[in-house]
Amino acid sequence: MAAPSPLPRFLILLLAVTSSAFAAAAATGAPVVGEDYVRPPPARCHRKALLSLFPWSKKEESAASSDPQQVHISLAGEKHMRITWVTNDNSVPSVVDYGTKESTYTMKSQGESTSYSYLLYSSGKIHHVVIGPLEDNTIYYYRCGGQGPEFQFKTPPSQFPLSLAVVGDLGQTSWTTSTLNHIKQCEHDMLLLPGDLSYADYMQHLWDSFGTLVEPLASNRPWMVTEGNHEKEHIPFFESGFQSYNARWKMPYEESGSRSNLYYSFEVAGAHIIMLGSYTDYDDSSDQYAWLKADLAKVDRKRTPWLIVLLHVPWYNSNWAHQGEGDSMMASMEPLLYAAHVDMVIAGHVHAYERAERVYNSRPDPCGAVHITIGDGGNREGLARRYRNPKPAWSVFREASFGHGELKIVNSTHAHWTWHRNDDEEPVRTDDVWINSLAGSGCIQEGSRDRESRKILMSP
Ligand SMILES: *[C@@H]1O[C@H](CO)[C@@H](O)[C@H](O)[C@H]1NC(C)=O
Ligand SMILES: [Fe+2]
Repeated sequence: MAAPSPLPRFLILLLAVTSSAFAAAAATGAPVVGEDYVRPPPARCHRKALLSLFPWSKKEESAASSDPQQVHISLAGEKHMRITWVTNDNSVPSVVDYGTKESTYTMKSQGESTSYSYLLYSSGKIHHVVIGPLEDNTIYYYRCGGQGPEFQFKTPPSQFPLSLAVVGDLGQTSWTTSTLNHIKQCEHDMLLLPGDLSYADYMQHLWDSFGTLVEPLASNRPWMVTEGNHEKEHIPFFESGFQSYNARWKMPYEESGSRSNLYYSFEVAGAHIIMLGSYTDYDDSSDQYAWLKADLAKVDRKRTPWLIVLLHVPWYNSNWAHQGEGDSMMASMEPLLYAAHVDMVIAGHVHAYERAERVYNSRPDPCGAVHITIGDGGNREGLARRYRNPKPAWSVFREASFGHGELKIVNSTHAHWTWHRNDDEEPVRTDDVWINSLAGSGCIQEGSRDRESRKILMSP
C-alpha cells in the first residue's frame, strides 16, 4: 500500500485516547472528598486491551469469517424482532431465514448492514434484519446470512404474566459470567439493561468480545438496552461518541417516534417501557424532553397498566458513588414521570443495589415511582461500598454486592420484584417485594389531580 505512514497521527490519537480515558475515569470514579470509597484498579485484561490498539497486533479471526458472530435480538415494533450479528466477510448478505420448526425455514427477511471506523479500528459488517410479524410466546428457529449454525429465540407473551430480567453495568469479568449464568437459570421473556454494556472504553475489539460473551443469552431472548457513560467513547476532535453503541445495539427508536437511538420506548404484554438517555440533552427545550412528554401522553393504562422507565444515572441514590449526578435530569424530568404515574424507575451506574419506596421530590409519596439502582452486573471497576448515613427516608434496601433483578408482572395490579446476590457461586434471593401498579391505585382517577397531570403532559 502506498499510503503514508500512519504512525505520527497514530501517536497523537493514542495520546488523546489515553488522556481522555484517564479523564473519564477520574470524573466517574473519584471518591467524594472525605470518604474512603475508592474503586479497585482495572483488571489485567485492560492492559491487553491497550496493547490491541497497536495496528500490528493481530485481530482474532473466527473459524469462518462468513459465520455469524455476536448474534443478539431486540424488539422492533409490534410483533417484530431485530436480529443483529457481525461477519468479518463483507460479502455475506443481510438476510435471516426463520420458521417455527427446527431446521425448517419457511420465511425470509432482508435487512440492512452498517460498519464503522474508530481510530485505527474497523468493525466487521454489522447486520440488522427485522423479521415478522411473529406469533406471541412462540419459539422461532433462525439462521443468519444464509449459513452457519441455527439459533432460536422465544417471543414474549402478549398477556401477563411477563418475566423481565434486569441487570446494569455488566462488563465482561468473571463476575459478569456468573451473573449471566444466574440469569440463564431464571425463566425470563426479555432482558433490560440500563446502561454500561461492554466497558470497552475506546478499545473497540472489546465490543466484539462482549458481543461473543452475551450471545448465548442475547440470541435467545430480546435484550433491550440504553446507554451509559461507558458507551460514550467521545474523543474531542477525533471521535463524536456512541459510534460503536449505535452501530451494534440498534434499538427500536424509529418505531417509537424518537429521532435518536439514545432514547426510545416499546410495549410488551401490558407494559409500556421507556428507555431514557442520561448522556444526551434532557432539559425542557431538548428533543428528548419533547419526545418523552409526547410518549407519556400516548400511554393508555387500560392497554398497558404498567409504566416503567429505565435510565443509567439514578435519581435516588444514597451511595457515595456518583452522588448528585442525576440531579439535573431529575429536576427536568421527574415532574413529567410523576404526572404520568410511572410505576418504576430502574437505573444503573452505581455499582451496588438499592431499592427506594415510592418517592417524589425527594419525599416518600404513594403516587411516586419505586426507584431501583441495579448497577451491579459485574464490571471490572468493582463495587461501590460506601453509603450515606443516616439512610434517607425513601431508601428501603441497599447492599453493595454483584447480582441481577427479576420483575415478574403477574397481572395488571401485581408484580413481584426480586434481587439476586451473586457474591457466592449460587444466586441468593436477597431482596423481595410485591409492587402494586399505580393503575390499580387511587392515584389515577378522573379528578382534579388527574386533570392537572394531563395539563402538564399535554401543554405545548
Ligand atoms: C393479581 O395477582 C395477585 C397476586 O397473585 C392476586 O392476589 C390478585 O387477586 C390478582 N388480581 C387479579 C385481578 O387477578
Ligand atoms: Fe456508569
